[in-house]
Amino acid sequence: MERRNFIEKAGFGITGISLGITPVLFASGVKGANDKIVLALIGAGGRGTGAIINCCKVNANVVIKTVCDVNDIKAGKAIQAIEKELGYTPKHSRNMKEVYDDKDIDAVWIATPEHWHALATIWACQAGKDVYVEKNPTINIREGQKMIEASQKYKRIVQVGFQNRSAPYGFSAREYIKSGKLGQIVHVKSYNMLGGSKWMARPDAQIPSGLDWDQWLGPAPYVPYNPGIHDMQERGGWGNFWAYSGGHMADDASHVLDLARMVLDDPGHPKSIYGWGGNNAWNSNREVPEIQSVTYDFEKFALTCVSGNATNYMKKTPVNIRMDPTLFPDWRTNATRTEIYGTEGLMYLGRHGGGWQVKGEDSILIAQGGGIFPDKDHQLDFIESLRTGKKPNGSVEQAHLSASLIHLGNIAYRVGNKQLRFDPEKERFIGNDEANKLLSTTYREGYKIPEEI
Ligand SMILES: NC(=O)c1ccc[n+]([C@@H]2O[C@H](COP(=O)([O-])OP(=O)(O)OC[C@H]3O[C@@H](n4cnc5c(N)ncnc54)[C@H](O)[C@@H]3O)[C@@H](O)[C@H]2O)c1
Repeated sequence: MERRNFIEKAGFGITGISLGITPVLFASGVKGANDKIVLALIGAGGRGTGAIINCCKVNANVVIKTVCDVNDIKAGKAIQAIEKELGYTPKHSRNMKEVYDDKDIDAVWIATPEHWHALATIWACQAGKDVYVEKNPTINIREGQKMIEASQKYKRIVQVGFQNRSAPYGFSAREYIKSGKLGQIVHVKSYNMLGGSKWMARPDAQIPSGLDWDQWLGPAPYVPYNPGIHDMQERGGWGNFWAYSGGHMADDASHVLDLARMVLDDPGHPKSIYGWGGNNAWNSNREVPEIQSVTYDFEKFALTCVSGNATNYMKKTPVNIRMDPTLFPDWRTNATRTEIYGTEGLMYLGRHGGGWQVKGEDSILIAQGGGIFPDKDHQLDFIESLRTGKKPNGSVEQAHLSASLIHLGNIAYRVGNKQLRFDPEKERFIGNDEANKLLSTTYREGYKIPEEI
């Protein structure tokens, strides 16, 4: 009912939608080069706050009207940061539906935890807003299908925060592979081997003041407040639970795998997956495993992704290398790299910048392309899409395929470290009902993603 209210209040009416008539206001409201673009931030943690401010700095005439967060402390910090960096004070809302009701707002910047991404995107599309939504865009495969449907039906721009999709060095790596210089691709290895420590569950506690815990949970099952899931100041531990995330695969391996897919010219779904995982490094008692290894069968080659937080000597690309296109990481201990084995050479590919290098026999350098962290390129691309109506880099269609790799690997682990066959057309597992049940989840009343979007 609430959804109907905000759509009706926005003046679009349900009838036109169900009859398949596309009201003019739903057509992507392409903005002229000099028109002001008004954004709202939904989810004002460290990532959302930093990225939306940067987007307003690198693009002319883009402003933030509202900061929406269910945590008053984080909202307050974001408002202060906007005052300091951009020189004006946005308003605060605790309820994203107020944002969708606000006709001044052109687009929303969704940086909540992952369990809210799909529903917040769908509501935004229904309300006629364009969307930037953080990775990982979904917590299951059905959510991706529904986000695509919503963006197509309501003709909205939806860009996913896979910023490597806008990296010039990613484009040059793709061109190098397409040119045939690497030869036939025979194997791909992606890494997300980060450091970590033992994770211990914590007892439930009182809901802190200044937090709407019910709205934080949103579509997820209701559970008492727990400081192991949530933190008022920092990101907190929601990434350790399947209800809110896809674990460390979703956190950083999603970026690595998405970039690997892009330079390999975007293969579709794999036809089978073998997933292994366990809590063998630190013996943590958490749901998501400490270390995972997933092998995807793409018919012409296999891709293996090793992901976890059990290797403290492995490091993400250092900040100085991320921002300097003349520097390349030490690939051997680079935690978030991809290795692409062709018949003619081995390509190392960084994420966060780090560029790419092709090595041959005796590690001789054959070719290279430098690159820097591409957040700015992605933010320029998002606003260009809003101004021109072009499809954004990091489209929801490609993001769904990349996010599916995370879900497929996690499902193979969750059904007992199995090999699963997958039907890419139907997007269902073949002959495994238990795995098929994990393609979706049960949502709380009031937060369901309906069949009819
Ligand atoms: N693209 C990247 O490189 C990159 C980098 C870091 C994080 N991320 C992604 O960004 C997202 C946010 O990460 P973070 O570290 O800032 O997390 P965080 O938990 O610190 O921030 C999320 C914020 O969302 C708020 N929130 C929760 N439910 C809400 C609701 N119903 N309405 C409004 N606000 C709500 C929380 O109160 C919190 O302030 C995650 O999905 C993460 O994976 C992407």
